[in-house]
Amino acid sequence: MKVGVVGAGLVGATAAFAMVLRGSCSELLMVDKNEQRAEAEAADIAHAAPMSHAVRVSSGGYEQLSGARVVVLAAGVNQTPGESRLDLLARNAAVFREVVPQVARAAPDAVLLVATNPVDVLTTLTARLLAHSSAQPVIGSGTVLDSARFRSLLAGQSGLDPQNVHGYVIGEHGDSEVLAWSGVSVAGQPLGEFLKGRGILFDDVFRLEIGAAVRGAAAKIIGGKQATYYGIGAALARITEAVLRDRRSVLTVSAAAPGDVAYSLPRVVGGAGVLETLMPKLDAPEQEALERSVAVIREAAAHL
Ligand code: LAC
Repeated sequence: MKVGVVGAGLVGATAAFAMVLRGSCSELLMVDKNEQRAEAEAADIAHAAPMSHAVRVSSGGYEQLSGARVVVLAAGVNQTPGESRLDLLARNAAVFREVVPQVARAAPDAVLLVATNPVDVLTTLTARLLAHSSAQPVIGSGTVLDSARFRSLLAGQSGLDPQNVHGYVIGEHGDSEVLAWSGVSVAGQPLGEFLKGRGILFDDVFRLEIGAAVRGAAAKIIGGKQATYYGIGAALARITEAVLRDRRSVLTVSAAAPGDVAYSLPRVVGGAGVLETLMPKLDAPEQEALERSVAVIREAAAHL
């Protein structure tokens, strides 16, 4: 199965590399306005295929996206130290207004997977740009990476494999994101009970420290190496696989209900994109925080 990646920058190229290492697809096309960059990234990634999975990697123009089942939209600029994701909106919205119609024309049946930040607002813009023409599925990577960071930190505290920690970050992929503590389970037990059994105090200090680490992860990494790309690259490969293999995985991808903006909730992801949204049970403070988070996205989207 064929995947397109538009934007051969650090995120797009790392996502493509992750897909080759994981064998997510059988064919992968890199598209970038800088054709030389796309060609070089494709050639470099193709050299990993013999040591991992036989994925045919190439570069080309938009018209060669034809037949792609998923197209990752990773074109645009990324944050520099001190910039918020929302600071990128004007520049990246202009890029998307140019890119999205060309992708939709070439691959009208593909699931579009938005990666560029601010991902929720750009997922909203992409859905709006396509609203008149087709029911083409549009999803954003949303807080899939944040949920992974959340689970990884809790797994570290618990001394367990992150696969045994279930918890979600919802709302905006950004400073207003909501850690849905009340729904976290570890090895089948509510988080508080599990930590108590380990003699770990599950109090406001614990929650504030984990919350700061999740929300601040990207800024800390950007401060040290100018960008993040391995975590998001793996997240994009994971979401792409859920679509290509119709896995019906529950992932906190960003998607827009008709007439509203896109934001992250636990959603069932399969061959047609989002198959179902699973509204988590939230306590009152979490529900209020989610409403505030969605309001941030609505305010930003009002300027589109
Ligand atoms: C991050 C970028 C993908 O959170 O927004 O690392």
